[in-house]
Amino acid sequence: MNTRKKATILVVDDEKGVRQSFDLVLKDSYQVLLSGSGSEARGVLSKRKVDIVLLDIMLPDINGMDLLQSIKETDPNTEVIMVTAVKEIQTAVKAIKMGAYEYIIKPFMVDDVLTIISRALEKKKLVEQVAYLKDELDRYGKFERIVGSDKKMLEIFELIRSICDSDGAVLIQGESGTGKELVARAVHNQSSRKSCPFIVINCAAIPRTLMESELFGHIKGAFTGATNTIIGKLELADRGTAFLDDIDCLEVNMQAKLLRVIQEKEFERLGSNKVIKSDVRFLAASNKNLPDLIEKGLFREDLFYRLNVFPIFIPPLRERRGDIPVLLAHFLEQHAKRSGKPRRSFSQEALNILTEYDWPGNVRELQNLVERLATITKEPVIGLRNLNTLSIGRKPIKDMTLKDAVNAFERQYITDVLDSVGYSRKKASELLGVHRNTLLSRMTELEIKAE
Ligand SMILES: Nc1ncnc2c1ncn2[C@@H]1O[C@H](COP(=O)(O)OP(=O)(O)OP(=O)(O)O)[C@@H](O)[C@H]1O
Ligand SMILES: [Mg+2]
Repeated sequence: MNTRKKATILVVDDEKGVRQSFDLVLKDSYQVLLSGSGSEARGVLSKRKVDIVLLDIMLPDINGMDLLQSIKETDPNTEVIMVTAVKEIQTAVKAIKMGAYEYIIKPFMVDDVLTIISRALEKKKLVEQVAYLKDELDRYGKFERIVGSDKKMLEIFELIRSICDSDGAVLIQGESGTGKELVARAVHNQSSRKSCPFIVINCAAIPRTLMESELFGHIKGAFTGATNTIIGKLELADRGTAFLDDIDCLEVNMQAKLLRVIQEKEFERLGSNKVIKSDVRFLAASNKNLPDLIEKGLFREDLFYRLNVFPIFIPPLRERRGDIPVLLAHFLEQHAKRSGKPRRSFSQEALNILTEYDWPGNVRELQNLVERLATITKEPVIGLRNLNTLSIGRKPIKDMTLKDAVNAFERQYITDVLDSVGYSRKKASELLGVHRNTLLSRMTELEIKAE
């Protein structure tokens, strides 16, 4: 059942006739509460959540202005509409300065009242939406946190801190999935440009023929199909940061045009002679070895030096294994927050396997794996058994003698069972149908670590 809740309106007026007419006008669309005095209204407000108060300025017991103030102090989100006689308009204007939404002059017109109320509710809804989005944004921002504890990553954090307030270009290099975009965002977010846009230009995804217009924009009629004037990404990035992702995919002639803009900080929209100045900080990323591309004539050396003012090289995950446990914990936490489910953890055995794994897809691969494991695992602890279902950590049994293959299988199987019972040898021996001493001796022979 999804009936929308009606908004609640409290009418505060000492004249019974006025209260009754408001009630008549409003009761079909809203839930209406009526109070004949300030103290009565206070009583209602202390017990109920009210969306809008229609408040008479002249009340017998409490000054309407005082009541307005206390309502706004208690819940700034309650909208107050003052109800006033013509001779009190000055006071009503003062009330608006104090936070009232509007005023209605008695005797009122029904249509005016309904319009003002629906506008006030609309505003209230927008304020609530903005607050919600802000909260989402904050949380999203936190989700995007860079984590790391390996010495190599800590050095990168330090480097980001030291270069964020310079305007020099930054070239971020590293294998796919190592976190280049995240580092670029961190450079922007820690800089004085952070309140201005961070514009991503994905050089690999934009078709070559559209690249120039994407960067510099175009005016209406600049080419066939240019039906509107479009502002380019570099103009949008004014006072902020432009992040050229996969810069190696930029065509050589576009590289020359980009170089000119980086040097001169000005350009023209396609089809126009008007010079546009844009104060942009440039960040670029690539997962290719750019010096190799320079040698092959595929990347301009001058552009490379222009961008490489501050080089950041992010090592692959297998070269900073110290980050693996913190990344695993970070993504488990993230999954728990997002799904609202309790936070999972990894068994020590599983952690060992994951720390030894080479992660060819780097942090992205690790993130996806945690996401899948946290989704499909029912138990609070993710163990070897769960990893095996995703064929991680299980070495293929091939090119072995029968004896070695049997041992490999047995080692894996015993480890799985131990893992599933939290390393209780008693329970494992029951499940395996062997005596506890047999299990212990097999564990020693097969070099299975007892947790
Ligand atoms: N140190 C880190 N801490 C937290 N999350 C990270 C970290 N490094 C990478 N990630 C996450 O891993 C994913 C891949 O990172 P990102 O997109 O920045 O990689 P990339 O180097 O730009 O990859 P590609 O070259 O494929 O574009 C993202 O979801 C990112 O949030
Ligand atoms: Mg990227």
